[in-house]
Amino acid sequence: MTDRETHWNEVYGAREETALTWFEDTPAVSMTLLRRAGLTRQSRVVDVGGGASRLVDALLADGVRDVTVLDLSAAALAVARGRLGARADAVNWVVGDVTKWDPSQPMDLWHDRAVFHFLTEEADRAAYVRTMMRALPTGARAVIGTFALDGPERCSNLPVQRYDAASLARALGDGFERIDSHAHIHRTPMGRSQSFVFGLFKRL
Ligand SMILES: C[S@@+](CC[C@H](N)C(=O)[O-])C[C@H]1O[C@@H](n2cnc3c(N)ncnc32)[C@H](O)[C@@H]1O
Repeated sequence: MTDRETHWNEVYGAREETALTWFEDTPAVSMTLLRRAGLTRQSRVVDVGGGASRLVDALLADGVRDVTVLDLSAAALAVARGRLGARADAVNWVVGDVTKWDPSQPMDLWHDRAVFHFLTEEADRAAYVRTMMRALPTGARAVIGTFALDGPERCSNLPVQRYDAASLARALGDGFERIDSHAHIHRTPMGRSQSFVFGLFKRL
C-alpha cells in the first residue's frame, strides 16, 4: 500500500463520514452541473476520488444505471457501500489511483470534487489528464471542482493546488474546452467556509 492510500484509509477510519470537512449531505452543485452536462439514466458516469460521497446515492436516485466510483481508499468505498446496502450492488466500485487507472469502457461523464487539487506535481496532473483522455471520447463531459484561489491551502493535512476557472482549464490542456464554470462556497460540518471553483468541460 502506498503512503497516500494509507493516509486516506486512516482519514476515513478515524472519523464518521459526516464529520469530514468535505462532507455534504446533498451534492447539489455536482448534480446541477452533471444535469447541465447532459446526464440521463443511460449515462455512464465515473466519480473519481468519490470516496464516501453521497453523489452515488443521488445518481442512483435519479435512475442512472451505470455508475463507477473510483477511489484510492478501500475504507472510503466501504463507507459508501455500507450506507447504500443492497443498492451498492448496482455500482462499479474500483479501488485505484486515478493517475494510473485504465477504464474498461468509455464514459459519458467524469466527475471529480476535491481530488484534482491534491495533485501538486506536474507529472501527476499530466497522468490524471491522460486518464481523462482515455476515459472520455470526443464530446463527453467532465465536471471538476477544486479549491478556488481564495480557498484553503491544505486539506486533510495535505497541500493543494488552487485554481480559478481559467487556470483549471489550462491545467486540463487543449484536449478539453471549458463550457461553464461555477463559484461555490462549501460549509464544512464545523461551520467554516471553503471557496470552490467548478468547471464543466467538453472533450474535444
Ligand atoms: C477531499 S476527499 C473528496 C471525496 C469526494 N469526492 C467528496 O466530494 O466527498 C478526496 C478523495 O480523493 C481520494 N483520492 C486522493 N487521491 C486520489 C487518487 N490519486 N486517486 C483516486 N482517489 C484519490 C481520497 O481517498 C478521498 O476520498
